[in-house]
Amino acid sequence: MVKSIIISKHGGPEVLELKDVKVGSPGPEEIKIKNLAIGINFIDTYHRSGLYKLKLPSGIGMEGAGIVQEIGSAVKYFNKGDRVTYSQMPLGSYSEERIIPEKIAVKIPEGVSEKVAASIMTKGLTSHYLLFKTYKVKAGELILFHAAAGGVGQVFCQWAKSIGCRIIGTVGSDSKIDIAKENGCEFVINYNKEDFDKKVLEITNNKGIGVVYDGVGKKTFEKSINCLKPMGMMISFGNASGALDPIDVKKYIAHKSLFFTRPGLADYGAGRAALEEGTSALFEQIKFGKIKIKIFKEYKLSEAKKAHEDLEGRKILGPAVLIPN
Ligand SMILES: NC(=O)c1ccc[n+]([C@@H]2O[C@H](COP(=O)([O-])OP(=O)(O)OC[C@H]3O[C@@H](n4cnc5c(N)ncnc54)[C@H](OP(=O)(O)O)[C@@H]3O)[C@@H](O)[C@H]2O)c1
Repeated sequence: MVKSIIISKHGGPEVLELKDVKVGSPGPEEIKIKNLAIGINFIDTYHRSGLYKLKLPSGIGMEGAGIVQEIGSAVKYFNKGDRVTYSQMPLGSYSEERIIPEKIAVKIPEGVSEKVAASIMTKGLTSHYLLFKTYKVKAGELILFHAAAGGVGQVFCQWAKSIGCRIIGTVGSDSKIDIAKENGCEFVINYNKEDFDKKVLEITNNKGIGVVYDGVGKKTFEKSINCLKPMGMMISFGNASGALDPIDVKKYIAHKSLFFTRPGLADYGAGRAALEEGTSALFEQIKFGKIKIKIFKEYKLSEAKKAHEDLEGRKILGPAVLIPN
């Protein structure tokens, strides 16, 4: 038996329960992993709360890193003892040990710790597709990224800066301004104090901006649209403040011939080729020091409830991990 966080009903952080579970042995194309670190992502709160409904009871968590304990009979890429990291479905990374399909895992390169690997797979693969696939950013281009001091913010902004983008970042409190600047933002707006759309128009001499990366959702949607210039792209990739209401196309999209997209890693990261492309690009950025990962906080696995309270309470400034006891 191993310790694992299980939810039996949707709800607040209190539904995260540490339980003893039996892991068993991997199937033919699966590997069994002893997790040494587990990534915490905002999407875990959507799974927990029921914003994204699960079949219950369920494990939770999409991301982790550790050591391969056992391999299935048809496993191609891994051996017992390999250091691996993974993200994506199936859920269940909040666990001391678990079984995953080998197709969602990659080896951790030398020089990268399990903690760093566990904290950046989802955030890094997301940043990769947002920057190079959903919208192809150009060197010198001014872009807007919301919650620039958060987990995806730390990776995305450094990566965007390293390829020459100029970033306007938003944050929810003054104490996060310096963090967003360290992440590479040239301009930082506290959107709880200022109308960020007015500020963006001021910065761009009323021209507006070509792309908005919006992981905040409900609270920022309308003003994000105001920031865009004609034929600009609104990338709504998350709902930290709540899910979007149905969109009035005439009011929000048609008047400036905008593009709207709601991308997800499940599609952009599907398949071995996409996983390898994204992870090799990400690890290269780390190897050459273009992206420096500062883990904001480590929680024990048994403190998952506290970690979710902090994440939803906007107290986590950068990637954070759970460490199995
Ligand atoms: N579509 C995809 O493929 C994909 C993949 C990964 C992540 N995401 C999305 O990316 C976003 C960032 O994820 P993350 O894991 O790195 O989280 P995070 O940015 O570390 O945390 C979310 C941040 O959102 C901001 N926020 C604004 N309104 C909020 C509210 N009402 N409640 C809580 N937070 C609020 C907070 O920053 P301030 O205090 O500075 O406002 C908070 O720190 C999330 O929306 C997530 O769902 C999407």
